[in-house]
Amino acid sequence: MAARHLEPDTAELRARWGNFAFTKAWEAKARTAIAKYPDGRQRSAVMALLDFAQRQIGEETNTQGWVPIPVMEYIAKYLDMPVIRVVEVATFYTMYNLVPVGRFHVQVCGTTPCMLRGSDAIMQACKNRGMRKGHTSDDGLWTLTEVECMGNCSSAPMVQINDDNYEDLTPERLDAVLDALAAGKAPKPGTQEPGRHTVEPLGGPTTLKAMVKANFDYRKEW
Ligand code: FES
Repeated sequence: MAARHLEPDTAELRARWGNFAFTKAWEAKARTAIAKYPDGRQRSAVMALLDFAQRQIGEETNTQGWVPIPVMEYIAKYLDMPVIRVVEVATFYTMYNLVPVGRFHVQVCGTTPCMLRGSDAIMQACKNRGMRKGHTSDDGLWTLTEVECMGNCSSAPMVQINDDNYEDLTPERLDAVLDALAAGKAPKPGTQEPGRHTVEPLGGPTTLKAMVKANFDYRKEW
């Protein structure tokens, strides 16, 4: 499980983030998110606003972004809700980074299906490149985190890197993805298995074969 803690609330942190405010572009998105909810229910937009703040900070710092305490306070004020409620949400969902991260946040799934399909080797491949769990590499490029099931068990093992998932990994395939990212390229997200499109069975369907070419009504066979 990811070890999570809040970045200490220091004078330096306040000096850096105490004046945080949404830019015009993110403010417009925040207004749109809030408008999706009935009057008086603007607090329901807290998850969206935390995400927007993280993305704005990501843009400003050329990282995946994170949400410092003063930014949580800003969102609490923005939505007229207690700060602790914002902190509760931010600390519950691992999509919010509570400490600074690197340009690429490599989240390796270590839950059972991924573990059975080789996530230990995937984690080792990350470590072989100098990544350490819970740390950002000295060049600021990589932050390594182990996470729980990301819902891609059918194409395990997988990692999430920033907004994309990379699946059906081997250490070599992961290296290729990481090399491409480091070189400023955009590797294809999703399965890395040649010939596989999403999570269909390799080698073709094993059930409902009559549905492959056209709709087929199986009910008359019941
Ligand atoms: S166990 Fe890794 S995605 Fe489900």
